[in-house]
Amino acid sequence: MSLPLSDAYNTAHSAAHHICSLTPLRPKIAVVLGSGLGAFADSEAMTDAVRIPFAGIPNFPQSTAIGHAGKLVVGKVAGVPIAAMQGRVHFYEGYSMEQVVFPMRVLWKMGVRAVILTNAGGGISSKLEQGCLVVLSDHINMLGTNPMIGPNDDQFGLRFFDMSEAYDPGYREFTLREGHKQGINIHEGVYIAVTGPSYETPAEIRAFRTLGADVVGMSTVPEVIAARHMGIKVLAISCVTNLAAGMGAPLDHKEVLETGEKVRGQFISLLTAVIPKIAADVERL
Ligand code: HPA
Repeated sequence: MSLPLSDAYNTAHSAAHHICSLTPLRPKIAVVLGSGLGAFADSEAMTDAVRIPFAGIPNFPQSTAIGHAGKLVVGKVAGVPIAAMQGRVHFYEGYSMEQVVFPMRVLWKMGVRAVILTNAGGGISSKLEQGCLVVLSDHINMLGTNPMIGPNDDQFGLRFFDMSEAYDPGYREFTLREGHKQGINIHEGVYIAVTGPSYETPAEIRAFRTLGADVVGMSTVPEVIAARHMGIKVLAISCVTNLAAGMGAPLDHKEVLETGEKVRGQFISLLTAVIPKIAADVERL
């Protein structure tokens, strides 16, 4: 007996069709803006913008986390059409993994072939400071599940797929180079994904450090897996909004949002510089 396929392909198609009816732009690049980082899509960097609340997109999950506006902004950055998600949904909100990755699938149906995923994270490595940026080189999935569990829909991708270069080496290289050029405190590191919503214990953070993790957060990994399933190229950047549990002060979400605010300018100028480089790459695909 085989399990039925979900209707994700058709629902993603309808949602993409709806978005495309609201704008003449056909972005090949998407940006997902994490906690406290949504300002990019409201900045002067973004022109010709159409703002679509997630609530207005058929079947799109609604973001409930504070610091997530819940809008898809389709516009241009440095002349390049992009789709920017101001906020995302998380597994801890109670959404299924299929719902968490649904926006990725909609973006792919719209024609997106490269995605910049951003998030707020806790710094585990001693080389990281509050407010620095980390270009992700790899991840460790501690979510205890995988968004691709269930019958495989071949229309999205293969049943078994490679994750050995999930974070595009070329994108990582030029993003780090650009960050250094701009004088940003930027590093490369491994992200470990946990479900939350409780922050980690100090013992968990010590264990994660031993495992090889540099930064911890509650998002991004499901989206990276879904993106790679569909062949979308990935750049991911964490903003270290706090030192991880046991390394500094007790954690609170307000600090996470405030640090996001502080790095706003750096973050906008870094994204604005890397988007044309990614555009040049996706044009070749
Ligand atoms: N842990 C998990 N998720 C986070 C953190 C953290 O310390 N900071 C921001 N998101």
